[in-house]
Amino acid sequence: MYSPISLTYSVNELEPYIDGETVMVHYGKHYMNYLNKLNEILSKYNFNFNIDKEFIFANIDQFNEEDREDILYNLGGVVNHELYFLNMDPAKNNIPMGSIKEAIDNKYGSYENFKKEFIKKAMEFRGSGYVFLVLNTNGELEIIALSNQDSPYNYGLIPIMAMDIWEHSYYLKHQNRKEDYFNDFFEVVNFSYINNLYEDEKM
Ligand SMILES: [Fe+2]
Repeated sequence: MYSPISLTYSVNELEPYIDGETVMVHYGKHYMNYLNKLNEILSKYNFNFNIDKEFIFANIDQFNEEDREDILYNLGGVVNHELYFLNMDPAKNNIPMGSIKEAIDNKYGSYENFKKEFIKKAMEFRGSGYVFLVLNTNGELEIIALSNQDSPYNYGLIPIMAMDIWEHSYYLKHQNRKEDYFNDFFEVVNFSYINNLYEDEKM
């Protein structure tokens, strides 16, 4: 079975930006539900849970056709949420550093401009999904939005930053003020973590 990730902060620590009740329900119910369902389906197979989850996307053909959609949906729900929870922290690492700072400045001109583009992508998106910063096949940064639990890995893209824009991410605190939530996410986003991912993937 795949084990749940541990949060690197307590549920209240992202306040006042993301409230504790939201983190508790989001992690404890939404994320855990995807993980339990994924484990349940994969357990029907002689599945090796030591395999990195990312690897399953490209090898989905190895599962029975009738299970593939359920596997991809729940796998996306797991992988997307894990990146989302891990790329936040209360320690004010929300300004890019290291290689990712350089890459963002090169591509977007400045961090402020990057943030503006990222939030614009989220504001323009309709329905439930995520906005991601990904590395494309040329190793360049791209901001993309995907629906529901679709994953950048389905397109050969490597996600290094994720903002959940499902209503369950913010509704208790922000209600319809989703732009406030997007800005609040940028108060707790963890560029230390994102930079590590970027440096690992660039190699
Ligand atoms: Fe979510």
